[in-house]
Amino acid sequence: MLKSEILQILKDNTEKYTSGQYLCSKFNVSRTAVWKCINQLKKEGYNIKSHHKLGYRLLKSSEFLYYEEISPFLNTKFIGRNFIHYDIINSTNTFAKEIASKSPDGTLVIAEEQTSGRGRLGRSWVSPKGCGIWMSIILKPHLNPQNALQITQVAALAIQKAIVNITNLNAKIKWPNDIIINNKKVCGILTEMNSEIDKINYIIAGIGINVNCTNFPEEIKNIATSLSLEKKHNIDRKKILIEILNLFENYYMAFLDKGFTSIKNLIVDNSLTIGKDVKIIYNNKELKGKAIGIDDNGYLIIKTASEEIIPVISSEVSVRSLSDYI
Ligand code: BTN
Repeated sequence: MLKSEILQILKDNTEKYTSGQYLCSKFNVSRTAVWKCINQLKKEGYNIKSHHKLGYRLLKSSEFLYYEEISPFLNTKFIGRNFIHYDIINSTNTFAKEIASKSPDGTLVIAEEQTSGRGRLGRSWVSPKGCGIWMSIILKPHLNPQNALQITQVAALAIQKAIVNITNLNAKIKWPNDIIINNKKVCGILTEMNSEIDKINYIIAGIGINVNCTNFPEEIKNIATSLSLEKKHNIDRKKILIEILNLFENYYMAFLDKGFTSIKNLIVDNSLTIGKDVKIIYNNKELKGKAIGIDDNGYLIIKTASEEIIPVISSEVSVRSLSDYI
């Protein structure tokens, strides 16, 4: 608490030094207490100049995704208002699941680095330190479990729009939950759910975005990219995160209040999949057809060569274009 208060004063006075004595009397604490906070802030990546007579001056804020860095720009009521930040964690999804039942709706778990990041279909998700956004949002909607697929798509829409707004890159949604730029994947979403037959207890929307990552393991090198690789310069992770949280709450509230149909068109308009010939791998069998739309349940509608219309649910399939991975 003291640390955040000191940081706020330094942020409000970047053009001058704030004396240690002033901080001591303002918060009624010892010089050692102030000094410990300053040292901790320095460890957290804040560039603070100390002068033995004049005191402390903030030269540059931390690059890490701390609540203090994000909250001044958040317009949300509940998304990201309970904000749990880790420097390093096994997986934000795994941790979010552990705390979900006792956490408020909209809780955000975010980490600078994941040691066991998890992807869909049991794959791993490479999550090196400080180069991406690795986060999980805990949601507690009063909905049926079958609506989970729609929530994943609401998240995908918020991420796609945020990327376009901040970077102007041509990001698209690969149904249901990948974000693609120039035919390469820049973001994936792993949605996990705890439910009863007709009631969701909680949903974890796990989001991984390659923001400033430059090296990928051999096996995904040709299919993965990052915002910085596409843009040819580093991108401010804080701006992307803030935009996603603000947009997500807007779309999510529209979805809860007015239903999936209220945002479906936006998803279709920004889809890479709709209108494409696709290959569905379903129970190890291959099915070819054209993706012609998304129905009101969020299923992808496929028209086969024999004019058969098949609604496809994501957990059962992987959608690929006829030519390559994407
Ligand atoms: C995919 O396979 O496309 C989904 C990848 C999801 C990765 C994110 S990173 C934050 C969260 N924690 C995890 O362990 N996974 C998700």
